Amino acid sequence: MTKRQHSIISTCIALAVAATLLFSGFAKALDPMGMCIKLNAYASYFGLQLADSSLILQLATAALALLEFTLGLNLLLGIRRRLTTATTLVFMVCMTCLTLWTFIADPVADCGCFGEALKLTNGQTLAKNIVLLAAASWLAWKPLALPRLLTERNQWIANTYAAAFLAALMAYTFHRLPLVDFTDFKTGRSMREALFNPESEESYTDLANLILCDAEGEMVQDSLLLEDGYTFLLTLPDEAEADEGCIDQVNDLFDYCTDHGIGFFGLIAQEEEENIADWIDRTGAEYSFLTSESTQIKAMVRSNPGLMLIKDGRIVAKWSHNDLPSVDTRHTADLEALSAAANDRMSLRKLLAWLCLPLLLLVVIQSIINLFSRHNLNKKHKKMRKKIVAGNWKMNKNLQEGVALATELNELLNADKPNCGVVICTPFIHLASVAGVINKDVIGLGAENCADKASGAYTGEVSAEMVKSTGADYVILGHSERRAYYGETAEILKEKVNLALANNLEVIFCIGEVLEEREAGKQNEVVRQQLEGSLYDLTAEQFAHVVLAYEPVWAIGTGKTATAEQAEEMHAFIRQTIAGKFGAEAAENCTILYGGSCKPSNAKELFSKPDVDGGLIGGASLKAADFKGIIDAWK
Ligand code: PGA
Repeated sequence: MTKRQHSIISTCIALAVAATLLFSGFAKALDPMGMCIKLNAYASYFGLQLADSSLILQLATAALALLEFTLGLNLLLGIRRRLTTATTLVFMVCMTCLTLWTFIADPVADCGCFGEALKLTNGQTLAKNIVLLAAASWLAWKPLALPRLLTERNQWIANTYAAAFLAALMAYTFHRLPLVDFTDFKTGRSMREALFNPESEESYTDLANLILCDAEGEMVQDSLLLEDGYTFLLTLPDEAEADEGCIDQVNDLFDYCTDHGIGFFGLIAQEEEENIADWIDRTGAEYSFLTSESTQIKAMVRSNPGLMLIKDGRIVAKWSHNDLPSVDTRHTADLEALSAAANDRMSLRKLLAWLCLPLLLLVVIQSIINLFSRHNLNKKHKKMRKKIVAGNWKMNKNLQEGVALATELNELLNADKPNCGVVICTPFIHLASVAGVINKDVIGLGAENCADKASGAYTGEVSAEMVKSTGADYVILGHSERRAYYGETAEILKEKVNLALANNLEVIFCIGEVLEEREAGKQNEVVRQQLEGSLYDLTAEQFAHVVLAYEPVWAIGTGKTATAEQAEEMHAFIRQTIAGKFGAEAAENCTILYGGSCKPSNAKELFSKPDVDGGLIGGASLKAADFKGIIDAWK
């Protein structure tokens, strides 16, 4: 499979997984109380006694919704792809295990993964999760195949905006009522129609199966719903936990109803019938009570207590206890207006627009910037900058092999002139001999290191002056292998850079982050510090003799190339940093090479990026044909 095909498949899979996760997270945020009730059903299976509105369930719901939504968004926009796909995989492993258990143990009828928005049986959920697990594994296998739509900074903006939006939505829906009612007891539905005409369109299961009993245990739903005019139901799904803060308003409303001949009932869970006396004690309630199944009451109004207004057997409004209507007993209240006010919530379309449009705008702006400013401006500058392909032989080849390789390359490049500068950096002992077999007009020569001292009693060291005296014109400094294995610090490298420049060597200065730093999103910070630590004392004139090589350490010799987009993003950042220190002109003229598993097969794509001016090639520079293949990427 080609890289492109892989990327197309990954994108399609990511879109499907993202859509599922976004829907799942968003549905929970629209009706968080519904999710709390579901989680509580699991908790009580394990013998935990919690109130539906307990803080722990609210936090668990919020965390789950935020996690799902953020993962979905990140997959969609290609944000922190490694971390996101790995987390999605872990999440799906956990969820699949959980649903396997729910499938076997059957603790609840439907698992609640999409809240009330879409009910799946436990078997369907298990099947869905197995498919999602396979999809998540695919994505985690090659996360960088996903397209990345935003830069690092804009990723933070997108994540913060979406998380804040979702958190605010949940705070609102917890405090008031769900913005979208997924239950059968939706405002506008006729309970009468459902009850007496089960064949009708309005016959939703919960409505049709509703049973209301009076104090004597007589079923009264028929008579109640056949009555014309208004009736209030104060729903108490969990009397012991019900909030009493609204009691004065409830009692005022009841007084008003009594004065105006409007029905008003408390509706308490059958299982808690004995708590009626307790409620009367606590609140001085004078209204009559009906009972029903607690699950029904929980579905009726997502609040404890909640208020439902029925007119001619049809649900016309619902209120949370935080938001009860106020009536003045002296005047006739306009219940229609009160209902209209209660139903005047933000529409789903508007809500989605508020969520999606800013994110869409961010992506569009980013694309336009990428397309125009980078491409056009840099294309112009790129033409002027020196393009280089440099080989880094590292500790490979003995003298004879090295000379043979240099000779072969020299012949190839003299027969077919390169379209870019070519440099080979060899071990010290090769330098003088290689200098003798190459045409310096076509191939530049460089060392892989030099001492941080000018001369003297430093056994085994090779000074910049010695390097220059072999005929070499370049030196690689700051390579990650030297930093990691030979403890070369920014301070030591500063000395080396100064000595190299003082001896008229062009410096190829390497920078780049290790895997953990990239995973922590610190790559920009790392390269900025590497530049600052060793190069910031130079003048702009000195800096003109420095070629930078961005080499992500996780890509060196591992076969894992950074994608062209990743390389471009880093190169652009490096150029911007250089502009900040040495000025725009120095930055525009600075050659920045990419290094790390660069091969003939990926060089063209990498070099096509506006800020990538060539490559520093390790493994692939050890074979003349491969190295030439990379050089030819400039043709
Ligand atoms: P690589 O090495 O091309 O073998 O990954 C690059 C380098 O270390 O300069």
